[in-house]
Amino acid sequence: MWIVDNSENNVNSYPQLEEAASLLKKGEVVAFPTETVYGLGADATNDKAVKKIFEAKGRPSDNPLIVHIGNANQLDGLVEEVPLKAKKLIEAYWPGPLTLILKSKTGVSQGVTAGLSTVGVRMPSHPVALALLQKVNLPIAAPSANLSGRPSPTTAQHVYEDLQGRIAGIVDGGQTGVGLESTVLDCTCEPPLILRPGGVTKRQLEEVIGKVEVDQALLKEEEKPKSPGMKYTHYAPNAPLFIVSGTREFMRETIMKAQEDGKRVGVLSTEENHSFYPGDKVIVCGHREDQASIAASLYDSLRAFNQEDLDIIYSESFEREGLGEAIMNRLVKAAGHKIISEE
Ligand code: TXA
Ligand code: MG
Repeated sequence: MWIVDNSENNVNSYPQLEEAASLLKKGEVVAFPTETVYGLGADATNDKAVKKIFEAKGRPSDNPLIVHIGNANQLDGLVEEVPLKAKKLIEAYWPGPLTLILKSKTGVSQGVTAGLSTVGVRMPSHPVALALLQKVNLPIAAPSANLSGRPSPTTAQHVYEDLQGRIAGIVDGGQTGVGLESTVLDCTCEPPLILRPGGVTKRQLEEVIGKVEVDQALLKEEEKPKSPGMKYTHYAPNAPLFIVSGTREFMRETIMKAQEDGKRVGVLSTEENHSFYPGDKVIVCGHREDQASIAASLYDSLRAFNQEDLDIIYSESFEREGLGEAIMNRLVKAAGHKIISEE
């Protein structure tokens, strides 16, 4: 287990990369930075290695993994065909935070696909991830490198907190950029279907391939989501989290009421509003005017609440637009769909 600070991401002076690559080739699991969140990688062609990912994370085995590649040619070994729309998206957004679900070739590890006939593939843009993938020259299965149910890790420290003693190593690349997981797009149906909103927005997809639909289960709680991973509780801090939808005056009243009841209140606020809230622990998560800054610090903020002894946490609510779609998707999951509305 090693963790070396190298937030510069100068891949030419990364002694860890050699070691990480050789561990991956030997069938060990290693965490590495991507532009979205840290991934927990293993050789996707090695069943035993893939099994170790599930063990380390405590992840249910019916939840398939995303395969990461460093070279688009590797797609040939993984998928039956790449439809034209997928080709266009690859050209536009790879490397980058977009996972494409495609028909898998027989022979792709059942551990990776969880028995489905499809496989999720992405090429990350983080220089360290790309350098590592190219060095290993194998498709690498990698879920987010957190314990199942915890917020995804956006720093090597988060990975360490969750997985120390359970994995062979962590490649430190400093804080990740986007901060939320990749967009997952099912390209086996027409029109293609967003199974998980992420760094590439619906509008950006539609600019390239026209109409794209959103899995209805992402909008309504009752329906079973098509992406197996979307049905599990995720990201939840220890104290119950509620999203407060309404004015900041309403948010302040809600906080004060709970405090009057003797509760220790945590507050997730944007920079613009934090001085307005009387919480026992107010954590600032980006600027309301800059969605990317909220996405980048959301998981770190959710984790930080666990260092406090709190009875309840209230979070501001965000517009479901652009990157806001992904932000609210994760926040609503973290809150277990508990939303308090002003009206
Ligand atoms: O940004 C990311 O995508 C990160 C980094 C490490 O690349 N990875 C990540 O992996 O978030 P994970 O395992 O935490 O989430 C993968 C999601 C899950 O919701 C899973 O159910 C879905 O993708 N998925 C994977 N393969 C699928 C498939 N064949 N069909 C439908 N959904 C699939
Ligand atoms: Mg995950």
